[in-house]
Amino acid sequence: MIKGHGGNVKALAQSIGCDPDEIMDMSSNLNPLGPPKGIEEFISQNISKIRSLPEPDAITIRREFSRFHGIDTKRVVAGNGTTWFIYSLIQALESKSVLIAGPSYADYESACKMYKVPYTYTISQKEDFFKPDLDRISSMAKQADIVFICNPNNPTGALLSKEDLKYLLHRHENTYFVIDESYLPFVDDASVLTFVAETDFTNLIVLSSMSKIFRIPGLRTGFLTTSPLIAEKIMAFFQPWSVNSLGQAVIEYIFNNHEKIEPFYKDTREYIQKEKTLFLNDMQGVDNIRLFDSATYFILAELTENLDAKTFCQMVGNEKILIRDCSNFFGLNDRFVRFSLKTRNVNKKLSMVVKKVLENA
Ligand SMILES: Cc1ncc(COP(=O)(O)O)c(C=O)c1O
Repeated sequence: MIKGHGGNVKALAQSIGCDPDEIMDMSSNLNPLGPPKGIEEFISQNISKIRSLPEPDAITIRREFSRFHGIDTKRVVAGNGTTWFIYSLIQALESKSVLIAGPSYADYESACKMYKVPYTYTISQKEDFFKPDLDRISSMAKQADIVFICNPNNPTGALLSKEDLKYLLHRHENTYFVIDESYLPFVDDASVLTFVAETDFTNLIVLSSMSKIFRIPGLRTGFLTTSPLIAEKIMAFFQPWSVNSLGQAVIEYIFNNHEKIEPFYKDTREYIQKEKTLFLNDMQGVDNIRLFDSATYFILAELTENLDAKTFCQMVGNEKILIRDCSNFFGLNDRFVRFSLKTRNVNKKLSMVVKKVLENA
């Protein structure tokens, strides 16, 4: 397992001698509005579900997800978070060579290392605001059997359009494109899930995390959507009961109340856009840091002078705010950090602390 995921609240609390509840976690990318209303009450009322085994193949939630997106259930697999797919699909597809559109989420590389599959990167440049270079991806995709593209990308926040992705899917019919849409529900209408419903790309694999948008990372739930043939190959690696009882119950509850999902997405999108604009305005003109605008609500920042990411994170951490040191993302360096925005007051506190730290550095 790689080190350096976000969210290590306990370690920070221990190092500065406070209670973990006092720490503001701005290192993990979760919906600042919290889970949709009713979820936590539903869990309390359904806690006895842990006394029974879940459905071994999670078929009910696969049906619910398929119904919501207008996709045939044969194309959908449910997993113990999308993490389970990132690791198992490399094995299931017997990959020999992977391309990663970076800098991006480190688990793609980690999965390749675990299964000893050679991998390489295309690295988008800060001069292009980290927009992935389609031509470069296209020329390198020829040598790969799987290409990982995170859209919108973690940690840069860059977004490729559906048209861009369609171009790649058409040009490389013998290469699988894994489009990780973990953060797509935070952005308007750019999902390639519609391609699965409307077209027949046999090289498209879409990952949809439930952890981020519904803020339920502890329940470990996610979906993979693809052609029926690939879905069958992935299912061959599925261990029974991989999606736990409470996770299945909550996802069923969410999709049974699907009339509330679209408004929840809409409220989230409006909220994060408004708060992000306020934060960026607040930070305008601050020296020694450069912020990269993002399609979502996490923001990559480059420290320009005298400060490395580790020291900066420690100094911000001393003020009980946990942010993400991005130096372990291949293609970035020890000057990059990421802020995952939360509610307005927390974001204000972050901008105050960042300004103070930069002044005193
Ligand atoms: C880009 C990306 N994909 C996948 C995951 C894994 O999410 P989960 O396994 O909770 O669905 C994460 C978690 O941070 C992520 O950032």
